[in-house]
Order: sequence, then structure tokens, then C-alpha cells
Amino acid sequence: MEKRLVFGIKIKFILISTLIMALTSVTWGSWSWINEREHLIERLDAEGRLLLTSLQAPIVDAILYERIGVVEENAGLLDNFIEQVMENREMKVVYAFIIDTDGKVVAHSDYRQFGKMYHDPLTAIALAQEGFAAQTVQQRSGPPVFDMALPLQVAGKSLGALRVGASMELLQKEQSRLGREILIFTCLFFLVSNAVFYVVGLTMSRPLKKLSSAMAKVSHHSLQAAPLAHRNDEIGQLQESFLEMLDRLKKSEDERQHAVARMMQNEKMATIGKIVAGVAHEINNPLMVMSTSLFHLERKVPPELARFLETHKEGMQRIEGIVRQLTDFSRAGSLDLQRVASDDFFKDTARFASIALKKQQIVFESSDMAPRTLLSIDKGKMHQVVLNLLLNAADASTEGGVVWLTAYLQGGSYLLAVQDHGAGIPPEEMEKIFEIFYTTKPGGEGSGIGLAISKSIVEMHHGEITCTSTPGDTTFLVRIPLRHGENDG
Ligand SMILES: Nc1ncnc2c1ncn2[C@@H]1O[C@H](COP(=O)(O)OP(=O)(O)O)[C@@H](O)[C@H]1O
Ligand SMILES: [Mg+2]
Repeated sequence: MEKRLVFGIKIKFILISTLIMALTSVTWGSWSWINEREHLIERLDAEGRLLLTSLQAPIVDAILYERIGVVEENAGLLDNFIEQVMENREMKVVYAFIIDTDGKVVAHSDYRQFGKMYHDPLTAIALAQEGFAAQTVQQRSGPPVFDMALPLQVAGKSLGALRVGASMELLQKEQSRLGREILIFTCLFFLVSNAVFYVVGLTMSRPLKKLSSAMAKVSHHSLQAAPLAHRNDEIGQLQESFLEMLDRLKKSEDERQHAVARMMQNEKMATIGKIVAGVAHEINNPLMVMSTSLFHLERKVPPELARFLETHKEGMQRIEGIVRQLTDFSRAGSLDLQRVASDDFFKDTARFASIALKKQQIVFESSDMAPRTLLSIDKGKMHQVVLNLLLNAADASTEGGVVWLTAYLQGGSYLLAVQDHGAGIPPEEMEKIFEIFYTTKPGGEGSGIGLAISKSIVEMHHGEITCTSTPGDTTFLVRIPLRHGENDG
């Protein structure tokens, strides 16, 4: 099941980028605003400085004229300058006055202030630094005032200061216009950048979402992912790792299923072995008794009844054969390993087989192509395996058909091949032929034990038995691995 995400990567990314963009926008906006404001004040300062310094020399002259009596004191010379300041077009001056070094107002735009004594800190500053000084003064009502002072000096002697206050109304208006512009631009920047980040977030989260839903859809049975578009980024790497992991999972799941099947098969064989041993034992006892009594009967029976006895005997031999096979099957669990030379073993097997196949209407051929090698096998049991295969091959062959037994070495194993030219085994039966009691032969002819015994004997030798079959060409291959030191004979 796919879980619904409350705080997915997309949302987190967008939230974080929004926060960053908001911070950036606000910082940038305020910085621009402060910068602009400083710039405006600087402009005001420069204008003020220009205005005041342009009047400095004439005012100093006027004061000196008054002092030395060239002109009459209070002739209004200074007032003319104040008026000039008040009427200038560059700045909106709200007040202008001249103050002497004692703090006495010697000219003022407001004539009522004339003659008053001021305690004026800005004048003190200007006089102390012997140059232009300015400050912004907040008014109780109305716009702030840019308050300026310029010392009036001659030959290092202070005569007072020219003091001018200019309204900052224009500056304030300019400033708020700029503020609005900055705000609008900041908002736009914020919106556009957020839109960009939203799209980026979406493109980042979409393939992840696809991958996650592909992961969620992987079924336990198939372990197959829906096809994913190829990508050259980290998400592509993630996809690849996921597919690789799926592959590994599939392999181990296959192995697990095989192991389970093998285990179940072994279990089944063990159970069947026990049952078979019990049944064989139970049949064997009465069979012995019957054999003995048959032996006595044979001598006493009149000749006309002898043929019945013959059929009876044949039947009993067949039962004995099956019981022997069953006992062999149940005893297949233990091996009696011997060291035998491969050529000796092959010779014995072929001789033994040709005797056993005498009754069959086939041609038996054998060829040993394996170089002499030491084998570690249970000779008797391996004879039984080859005989089972040869008898099956003979059963499958048509009259006069050739059955081949071949031995050779390949890839560190000793191989025995039994080949016939019979009808072959259909693919759908291939899986079943090694199961115990599986036979396609008519009742009374087949028991379905031969291949099951052969398989368990070969597997006990750590080998395997395989079959390839097409109509007219069937080969059973027994592979017995040679252990270290056995192929040096
Ligand atoms: N060489 C062969 N050609 C065709 N079928 C074969 C061959 N060998 C084995 N089989 C098939 O495998 C089945 C099982 O063989 P086996 O276990 O020996 O039992 P049985 O010989 O008693 O039937 C046979 O009944 C037959 O159908
Ligand atoms: Mg058989």
C-alpha cells in the first residue's frame, strides 16, 4: 500500500524555498530602501552645503562691515541674506538664522526670534569641527527637518554660524515612492521565484513518486517492476539500485523455492522409503514360504498340471523382482564406496548388461572413451543404475534397435551415457519420470521404481542424472564428479 505523505519532499522543498525567498526578498528590499534613503539624505546634504557655503563669504563680509561700522548695525544686510536663503528654489527652507559665538540670534527668518539667546548644540559642533554640520530633526507634527549649520569664520576667528532648516517633505515623498517600488518589485521577485521553485519541486518529486508507486506495485509472486523511464541523475541511480535489488531478490526467491522443493522431495522419498521397506519385508516372508512349498510341489505335480505351476513360478519371480527393487530403493541410503579403475568398472558393467539384455530384441553396443581413472563409487549400486537405464532404453526401442552405453571424462566428471532410438519422452512427462511409481508401462510390466532408485543413488555419489529426449533420440546422462586425486590413474 502506498502511504499518503503529509510532508513530502515537494512540500518541504517548496516551504524551505519560500522561507528562503521571503527572507532574501525582505533583506534585499530593506537594504535597497535604506541605501536609497541614505542616497537621498546625501543629496540633501550636498545641496544644503552648496547653498550655505555660497553665502558664507558675503555674510562674513556683512558682519565685518557692521562691526567695523562701514554699515550701520541692524541695517538689514544680514536679513537680506536670510531672505535669500528662504527664497531659494532648490530647497524648501523652513527657517534660517545667523547666530553669533555667544548664542545670540543676529538675524532670523522669524523676526520675533531676533536678539534671543540660543543654546544650540549643532552650532557648537560646527564651530568645533570648523566645518559644515547637519542632523535630522523630527518635528512634533509634519515632516522632519534637515537642520544645518555652517561656521562663519575669518582668519581663524569665529564670528558665529549660519543655521538653516530645510523641510524633508520632498525627501519623504520620494522615499515612500521608492519604498512602494521596492515593495512591488520584492513581491514580484518573491512570487516569480516561488513559482520557479514550485515547478522544480514538482519535477523533482514526480519521478520519485513514480518510482515509489512502481515499488509499491511489485507483487510478491512476480517480483517484476513496471518499466521506468531512463534517467541520468541520482533518481536514475536509485531506480537502477531498486531494479538490481529486485533481481537479487528474485534470484534468492528462486533458490529458496528450489530448496523447498528439494527438501519436500527428500522428505517424500524418505517417507516412501520407510513404507516401501516395511511392505517389502512383509511380502518377503510369505514369499519365502511360498517358494519353498512350490519347490516341493514341483516334484509331485502330474505333468498335465506342470504348465500351471510354471506360470505360478513366473509370477512369483516377478514379485520377487519387485520386492528386491523395493528393498534396494529403501536401502539406497547407504553407500559402500570402493576405489575402482574406470576401465575395469566399465568392462564389468558392459558384460553384466549384455547378459541382462540377452532376452531383449535389441542390439547392445558399448564404448569406453574415458582414459583410465580411479573412481570412488559403490560398484554394485552403479551397476544397478546403468542396468535400469539400459532396460528402460531396451523397453523403449523397437525390435533390432541399437542401445548405446558410452563412458567419457568431461569437466572433472566421469560420465555414463545411455542412448536409444525409441519414441522418446514427451516434455510434459520429463519432470515426472524420476518420481517413484511413475510408469507409462502397462500393468504388470512397469513398477516406476527404476529411475527413482537410480536418481537417489547418483545423488548420493554427489552426481546428477539428466535426460534429453526427442523422438528417435533419447539420452540419459549420469555425471559422477571425480574428487581430488582420482583422475591420476
Ligand atoms: N529411454 C526411455 N525412453 C522412453 N521413455 C523412458 C525411457 N526411460 C524411462 N522412460 C519413461 O520413464 C518411466 C519411468 O521409468 P522407470 O522409473 O524405470 O519405471 P518403469 O521402467 O518401471 O516404468 C517409464 O515408464 C517410461 O515412460
Ligand atoms: Mg525401468
